[in-house]
Amino acid sequence: MKVLIVGSGGREHVIAWKAAQSARVDKIYCAPGNAGISEVAECVPIGAMEFDRLADFAEEKKIDLTVIGMDDPLVGGIVDVFEARGLRVFGPRKNAAILEGSKAFSKNLMKKYGIPTAAYETFTDAGKALAYLKTAKLPIVLKADGLALGKGVLICETLREAEEGVRTLMLDKKFGSAGDEIVIEEFMTGREVSVLSFVDGKTIKIMSSAQDHKRAKDGDEGLNTGGMGNFSPSPFYTEEVDAFCKKYIYQATVDAMKAEGRPFQGVIFFGLMLTADGPKVLEYNARFGDPEAQVVLPRLQNDIVDVFEACIDGTLDRIDLQFDNERATVCVIMASDGYPVEYKKGYPIEGLENFAGKDGYYVFHSGTKFDEKGRVVTNGGRVLGVTANGATLREARENAYKATEWVRFENQYMRHDIGKAIDEA
Ligand code: AMP
Ligand code: GLY
Repeated sequence: MKVLIVGSGGREHVIAWKAAQSARVDKIYCAPGNAGISEVAECVPIGAMEFDRLADFAEEKKIDLTVIGMDDPLVGGIVDVFEARGLRVFGPRKNAAILEGSKAFSKNLMKKYGIPTAAYETFTDAGKALAYLKTAKLPIVLKADGLALGKGVLICETLREAEEGVRTLMLDKKFGSAGDEIVIEEFMTGREVSVLSFVDGKTIKIMSSAQDHKRAKDGDEGLNTGGMGNFSPSPFYTEEVDAFCKKYIYQATVDAMKAEGRPFQGVIFFGLMLTADGPKVLEYNARFGDPEAQVVLPRLQNDIVDVFEACIDGTLDRIDLQFDNERATVCVIMASDGYPVEYKKGYPIEGLENFAGKDGYYVFHSGTKFDEKGRVVTNGGRVLGVTANGATLREARENAYKATEWVRFENQYMRHDIGKAIDEA
């Protein structure tokens, strides 16, 4: 069969790499893809938001299955466009992708169905939000309702900062219409865990847990990024936590979406915080995490195409989802210095060939392209996801950092403490 993957980051690279292992797959296309993805797929220069052109391409090439990796097209309704043209597609429809697309929607859903999350209020009026702040406990968290490249969350220590935040989001419109409505919520403390799951509208199957490192600098300092590296499984995701989440969060979310007439088919990514009062939902995403996918999918033992199809067909209950529990995985993001604010691109990357034939080591490309001379060059804030397996998390971490030395590019930057938390486990 022929598969089309939509997106251009490390997440789409690992999805393409995993799909390429399926005996059922003859050909993979990726739109728009990147230099690394072109090793396993034919990249097509169509943007992820060009829904009609993508659907035209899928019809023309007789694509059997399209997999949407990114949030923007999902929230924008790409799945509905494909379905309306009779094309098979993996991902939630627009009315279900709202679980990620609107924080006000997801908070209200959790409140209505009793799913544990931080206490909150929503506001469409800046004056009312400012008045509410005077009564609120500090620190306090402000969230733009819509998608804001992971930057629409402000954690405010003082009333002044919070007031400024409301102005930035709602009046200055720093994130455009994403700030038309905001969520103001209670600040929680605890360890964060990412849990990805496959969902077919009614059944949910949980993948191996992961822990992300969102801040740009060592010691969790610096700005929030898309993720600077992570590890899987998380030793803090204990059986007790798993049992709690299965009872109060996972199936409850799937059932709530179904009850609202918005059945969710695709990947739900649960951003959890393990608080003193038990696990609570920080946020939902309607897709694989990036780089969570890079540490979870290498240990998935199923044929991923079978799982994608079961989600579409509503037969996920028949899939026995299996992960390699004998190994752990760590991913270190090699970024351009200056990310997530300002950085230069276009530097040649050397040493990528060192990964060839090395079992258990992977270099997933996040932001690369071919230059006019045919060299692989940097083309983004996050450049490479250097990933390795190990018998333990510690070994996987050592392997991943060792492998970062196999590649070089000018202006490279990475955190040196990815997975350090496992020493406390
Ligand atoms: P989100 O995009 O909602 O996951 O938020 C981004 C990051 O902000 C999370 O990964 C947390 O580190 C932090 N955060 C979000 N909400 C809260 C909260 N209620 N309390 C504490 N930290 C939070
Ligand atoms: N790594 C976090 C995310 O994909 O949203």
